[in-house]
Amino acid sequence: MTKKMTITSIQKTKGVRPLVMITAYDALFASLLQESSDILLVGDSLNMSFAGRADTLSATMDQMIYHTNAVCMGAKNSFVICDMPFGSYTTKETALLNAIRVFQETPADCVKIEGGADKAHIVEYLTSSGIAVCGHIGLLPQSVRSEGGYKVKGKTPEEEAQLLKDAQAIEKAGAFCIVIEGVKAEVATEVAKAVKVPVVGIGAGSGVDGQVLVFSDMLGLFEAFTPKFVKKYLDGAALVKDAIKNYSDEVKSREFPQEIHTY
Ligand code: KIV
Repeated sequence: MTKKMTITSIQKTKGVRPLVMITAYDALFASLLQESSDILLVGDSLNMSFAGRADTLSATMDQMIYHTNAVCMGAKNSFVICDMPFGSYTTKETALLNAIRVFQETPADCVKIEGGADKAHIVEYLTSSGIAVCGHIGLLPQSVRSEGGYKVKGKTPEEEAQLLKDAQAIEKAGAFCIVIEGVKAEVATEVAKAVKVPVVGIGAGSGVDGQVLVFSDMLGLFEAFTPKFVKKYLDGAALVKDAIKNYSDEVKSREFPQEIHTY
């Protein structure tokens, strides 16, 4: 069994080797994913691939706590991040109450909140209250409705300057790590260089301090759409459908169960 990462060991990877982060939503997959990853993220993306919704916005604290507990049970040796869902950190007081729920009701190691300089006061309030925070800047999935879609960031000098400001503000506020999503590669690389904490990218190129992917995307299980940044390491949907078709055929033909499956 590999040693569980800590905030210190995560931070020490910067400039040494890339961090491997992957989402997990349940104990079964968490137990499979833990072996080759440094960090498991219980992302609110579970609202899409697990709960079948069109975006992440209707995920709730209760849902996040339920799934975080499941992941922690399945991967007892993994560093686990619990995403704070939309609406759970609108003020610093609300954020603290909800983050305390995460720490008291689950064994998660930290929470993640979306936002940059505009959320630095919340990051500061949480970290000074003993809650470890991973930031999330760039394309923010929780802003999909207000922005009218998923918009890649860092396309203009103004956006680049804002991203640098965002990363530096949440680092100063105490975030120990930052996820950067949907950002032009050269800009994400500059952001990673501008802060001391690890910057883990998703759709942000290879010049950052690590990568995160949604497990159901990279295993080819989520079929609704595939973002450009996803590499499918398995054709999971086809494999599962094939297996179920075989099972169905064998049940219908009475080929299953055989003697060895029978008491
Ligand atoms: O919810 C999630 O899975 C995330 C990743 C996209 C980083 O926040």
